[in-house]
Amino acid sequence: MEKITVMLGERSYPITIAAGLLNNLRAFAPLKSDEQVMLVTNKTVAPLYLEQVKQTLKQGGIKVDEIILPDGEQHKSLLVLETIFSALLKKSHSRDTTLIALGGGVIGDLTGFAAACYQRGVRFMQLPTTLLAQVDSSVGGKTGVNHPLGKNMIGAFYQPVSVIVDVSCLATLPACELSSGLAEVIKYGISFDRDFFIWLENNIDVLMTLNIHALTYCIRRCCELKAKIVATDERDNDLRALLNLGHTFGHAIEVTMGYGIWLHGEAIAAGIVMAAEVAYILGKLPADDVHRIKTLLERACLPIAGPKEMLPESYLSHMMRDKKVRNNKLCLVLPTGIGQAKIYNDIDHKLVLKSISACLPIKEA
Ligand SMILES: NC(=O)c1ccc[n+]([C@@H]2O[C@H](COP(=O)([O-])OP(=O)(O)OC[C@H]3O[C@@H](n4cnc5c(N)ncnc54)[C@H](O)[C@@H]3O)[C@@H](O)[C@H]2O)c1
Ligand SMILES: [Zn+2]
Repeated sequence: MEKITVMLGERSYPITIAAGLLNNLRAFAPLKSDEQVMLVTNKTVAPLYLEQVKQTLKQGGIKVDEIILPDGEQHKSLLVLETIFSALLKKSHSRDTTLIALGGGVIGDLTGFAAACYQRGVRFMQLPTTLLAQVDSSVGGKTGVNHPLGKNMIGAFYQPVSVIVDVSCLATLPACELSSGLAEVIKYGISFDRDFFIWLENNIDVLMTLNIHALTYCIRRCCELKAKIVATDERDNDLRALLNLGHTFGHAIEVTMGYGIWLHGEAIAAGIVMAAEVAYILGKLPADDVHRIKTLLERACLPIAGPKEMLPESYLSHMMRDKKVRNNKLCLVLPTGIGQAKIYNDIDHKLVLKSISACLPIKEA
């Protein structure tokens, strides 16, 4: 069993990683007998893992309620948030309750935000079941919902009390969702850790066969990096912002195409290539590194071009609405090598348009 601590003083918490943890009551500390919990999951994950988690908690004398939400990014909304509050109130959950997110990043973000708001804040735990949630979204306390005009526009920084990563859950994950998670994995390598990028170049095929040892190492390395970043910069002022590599472009794709049409990781993969093109045109990233980035993304079955329906101008109009736009200037995270990235605050619009044009899908003859 791997254990990493996110060091945030009184709000520090463990990330536990191993196969089979959903059956292991000890992993669910600090929950105690007679405590009340609300398990929040969705229609897809419930038939796979809900019973298992309920049984484990019941063995510990924990009082379990559940809410099963519709599945999909389009349901990461204020409307769905209200159904969580209604379920909590109907079942008389007090300020001592604990919300438990069982699912991918959508369930994690929704549940965390519900926990931040319900009675001005109750405890919550993350049981991430997608690779993306296991390596990224369940750690670090960014919670929230989408608005029709912008992704993750309503939310709060609110840390969980524990993150329990059961690697065996990935066995049921559709292949495209595994690839989507690999986009965030590759992002860590590009932005922070050259050795890890090289490890990925050597092990991407093994990872995609769901080899438990490779997966466990990969998830542990990403969680270690994220834990360190969050401990240094919880509120996204400098270091943490580097985790947004590819996201400004990617969010434009997700919003324009409609939530859930392009998977988050797919949009991020195309966005990483666009950011790499900007860096290349600015002379900050060698052509060989752009090639290595594209090759690794492609090997992970991820797109390296944007959707054919989107013109460069439609990216820009969405990108100007990004949380990171200040004084009408585009702020972008750009890779400056394999294993390093920097924030640039004053990127020229024309250059962005040119870079996006370089990443349009090749038109069929
Ligand atoms: N909070 C953060 O720091 C952060 C970071 C990155 C991404 N995110 C957010 O995370 C979301 C994307 O997360 P995601 O990729 O996990 O998507 P998701 O939550 O929509 O899950 C993907 C799909 O897999 C299904 N699923 C989940 N676990 C499964 C399993 N074990 N077996 C079979 N199917 C399973 C889900 O029901 C869903 O259909 C986005 O909303 C993104 O904005 C948040
Ligand atoms: Zn992301």
